[in-house]
Amino acid sequence: MATAALLENPLRQGLFSDRVPEPCSLVIYGASGDLTHRKLVPALYDLFEKHMLPTSFNLVGISRSKMTDEDFKKHLKESLKESKPQLSDSLWESFSQNFHYVAGGYDDFKAYQALSKLLDDLDAENGAAANRIFYLSTPPNVFEAIISNLGAAGLNREEKGYARIVIEKPFGHDLASAKELNVKVKEVFKENQIYRIDHYLGKETVQNLLVMRFANSIFEPIWDRRHVDHVQITASEDLGVGSRAGYYESSGVLRDMFQNHLFQVMCLIAMEPPVTYEANAIRDEKLKILKSIRPFEERTLSQFAVRGQYGPGYLAGERVPGYRQEEGVNPKSITPTYAAIKVYLDTWRWHGVPFLLRSGKRLPKRATEVSIQFKEPPNLLFKSNVSELSPNVLVVRIQPDEGITLKFETKVPGMTMEAKTVNMDFRYGTTFAEGTSEAYERLLLDCMLGDATLFIRGDETEAAWEALMPVLSRWENTEPEGDFPNYEAGSWGPAAADHLLEKSWRKWRRL
Ligand SMILES: NC(=O)c1ccc[n+]([C@@H]2O[C@H](COP(=O)([O-])OP(=O)(O)OC[C@H]3O[C@@H](n4cnc5c(N)ncnc54)[C@H](OP(=O)(O)O)[C@@H]3O)[C@@H](O)[C@H]2O)c1
Repeated sequence: MATAALLENPLRQGLFSDRVPEPCSLVIYGASGDLTHRKLVPALYDLFEKHMLPTSFNLVGISRSKMTDEDFKKHLKESLKESKPQLSDSLWESFSQNFHYVAGGYDDFKAYQALSKLLDDLDAENGAAANRIFYLSTPPNVFEAIISNLGAAGLNREEKGYARIVIEKPFGHDLASAKELNVKVKEVFKENQIYRIDHYLGKETVQNLLVMRFANSIFEPIWDRRHVDHVQITASEDLGVGSRAGYYESSGVLRDMFQNHLFQVMCLIAMEPPVTYEANAIRDEKLKILKSIRPFEERTLSQFAVRGQYGPGYLAGERVPGYRQEEGVNPKSITPTYAAIKVYLDTWRWHGVPFLLRSGKRLPKRATEVSIQFKEPPNLLFKSNVSELSPNVLVVRIQPDEGITLKFETKVPGMTMEAKTVNMDFRYGTTFAEGTSEAYERLLLDCMLGDATLFIRGDETEAAWEALMPVLSRWENTEPEGDFPNYEAGSWGPAAADHLLEKSWRKWRRL
């Protein structure tokens, strides 16, 4: 449906009306940056199109770059047009009428006083009801300065309306810094005011893990060590480090993908049913899983974790450079661009079931999926073709081609008892007319509604760091076991990752 028609159609508006938040102001720190332009503002626009933005909504951008309100709007409009080439001037005008910009250093207290006055004026002008969200979209080294200045300016108070703070990832660089950041932010904001982002949780398909598990009765009885052989969680990227070498060199794949996204997905797969669909009930169950991760030991680490770094290779027929040849990367860098980790969860449900997590750059394709691989039948009747029988697999494709596939054996028509693996398939693209929403659209809306279910609690983030620290510190302080680079760009990663599978019949899935 064309946008104008969508906006004019009252029935359509009614469809969305039950989740329209109260009036509020959203203040984005780092407003001149990539995330604001490429993700946050397009997500806000999508909410606007669906009539899900509050009736009175102000956006205040803050960063050090000198800009007027008009410059700010002009830049936002230009970047929004990249993802929405049909954007009309009239819709843009109506979307952006309450957009403002404040130029200021993150440690310049006067800028916070000016912001406080601007927010008060906006409340008086258009009734934003003193509800404020402060979104930290800057590099993490300025998070603490912003948080303490917001406190000093009284912008954390909730006397007239709510005050919430959204903190982008990464939340800390290691356990010690995550703890320190938690202390700093909790000196100023209460836990129920804090929204730590992991944008994976905003993805439809990740939320659907909860619906799949807890809105169906068929999965629960088989969701345990008796029936599941192992679980694979893969997040593969075909891109290299691109222009983010500065960040990636000090981060690497464990901080970039495991501490947050892969561990969160593992929690949703492994957690016990929560008592209610409520933020703390869900987060309590996720926390138990993070705390049940069997500690990695230095002595046996190589049996549980494999690191890799891409060398030159071919992707889609094109020659691509190795990691050490990328701009901004130390030519002797030991930063891992690939990791595979075998996690054991010491719980009754999952005792002895390996969770095999892997992620890497410059793998053959971009795909994120979870596969639950079931045990073989206890008594194989069809002896003639035992070797061809494959165990059942439930595959949840998180992106792209979002959907779920159950793989099972069936008889090939004919006079012999020949079996073949077939698929039962659900695809979002063919089942639902509505496209899946962008993660940030859902997360911004939930924050405005005060729903923290899809955000990370402070203790969760610390438990995830704690589990990962032995691997991180070992890898940072020792040379790789084999030579780096140890996998070619365009391959599925280092061969050593196969050793994690333990059993000959287990295979990493080719996505
Ligand atoms: N981009 C993404 O897709 C993405 C995805 C997930 C998470 N994140 C997280 O979101 C946050 C913002 O990411 P981004 O990609 O938008 O970053 P960015 O473009 O590098 O930075 C955002 C803004 O922060 C300010 N800034 C940059 N370097 C600074 C410094 N050293 N000190 C103070 N201010 C600085 C800049 O504004 P001024 O110079 O005008 O002040 C810049 O426009 C980061 O924490 C990042 O980890 C980003």
